[in-house]
Amino acid sequence: MSDVIEIHGLVKDYGSLRAVDGIDLSVHRGEVFAFLGPNGAGKTTTVEILEGLRDRTSGEVRVLGLDPWKDNPKLVPRQGVIPQDFNFFEKITPSEAVAFYAGLFGKKVDVTGLLRRVQLEDKADSWFETLSGGQKQKLGLALALVHAPEVLFLDEPTTGLDPQARRAIWEVIRSLKAEGRTVFLTTHYLEEAEILADRVAIIHRGHIVAMGTPAEIIREHGRRGLLTFHAPAELADYLRGRTDRTVVAHDHAVDVEVRGPEDVLQAVRLATESHIAWESLSTRSDTLEDVFIRLVGQVGESGEEKPAHEGSP
Ligand SMILES: Nc1ncnc2c1ncn2[C@@H]1O[C@H](COP(=O)(O)OP(=O)(O)OP(=O)(O)O)[C@@H](O)[C@H]1O
Ligand SMILES: [Mg+2]
Repeated sequence: MSDVIEIHGLVKDYGSLRAVDGIDLSVHRGEVFAFLGPNGAGKTTTVEILEGLRDRTSGEVRVLGLDPWKDNPKLVPRQGVIPQDFNFFEKITPSEAVAFYAGLFGKKVDVTGLLRRVQLEDKADSWFETLSGGQKQKLGLALALVHAPEVLFLDEPTTGLDPQARRAIWEVIRSLKAEGRTVFLTTHYLEEAEILADRVAIIHRGHIVAMGTPAEIIREHGRRGLLTFHAPAELADYLRGRTDRTVVAHDHAVDVEVRGPEDVLQAVRLATESHIAWESLSTRSDTLEDVFIRLVGQVGESGEEKPAHEGSP
């Protein structure tokens, strides 16, 4: 087992509830791996098993070649952790907290430099209880970095952060990757996964429903390209008789399925020949978010989809 994280057939039951139902995945050294899923999918349960905070019901789990439950003391110095909803002593300042952690791990750290890295230096001497939610998350990240761990488990590190703070955390994650560290990240932000992650797994009701690079997942689970004419429905009737591609009319728009440039050219040629007036053209393909919604059925759980003509012209 040479991967940093190896999971085979992992199952976790809470009483009669099976929160994780036989998952398999591996994370390579130096990878940023994003674990995506709706609320209650089993993300935190999996992360806590990897961190050695929870025992598993069954299955094989290895972190840096060790069993996180049985070999936890050996792993603690090699891993960094930010729990979901990170919390700490109320009357401790970020500077004191970092110094305290450094003492625990027997490390010398540049406290100011570390707080600057997570953009928290202006709150270095404020009590934890006075920090905003985002500032608390930043301190969590700083503490996870104190002992320069080989692998980091970040459970929703950017939830609730403003866009600027989120980007600051992204920069830190990128720099961790550049240093060769391995990052296992859970997030609800599809954009974040698309931007940061080398590979992604989507978990739904304890099962992994998609895994791969964002591009691979979109290729495997996304819809083919769509070319949209902003035109009356009669254009759809005209096109249907002349192309074997799927044509759908809706909301003053006509969607044509396109599998490549030839299909686009053919559709535009036919539309021009039709002498039916059309205003504009746009193309779109599924994003990771579209795929996520389709796989996980997040929109109203009814499987309702976004209109196919959405997107920029
Ligand atoms: N300690 C526990 N005891 C009983 N059930 C639990 C416990 N922890 C989690 N669960 C249940 O297990 C399932 C998975 O929870 P988990 O926290 O792993 O989800 P998650 O994917 O992290 O969700 P979120 O996005 O909301 O953080 C949920 O149905 C949850 O209610
Ligand atoms: Mg969670």
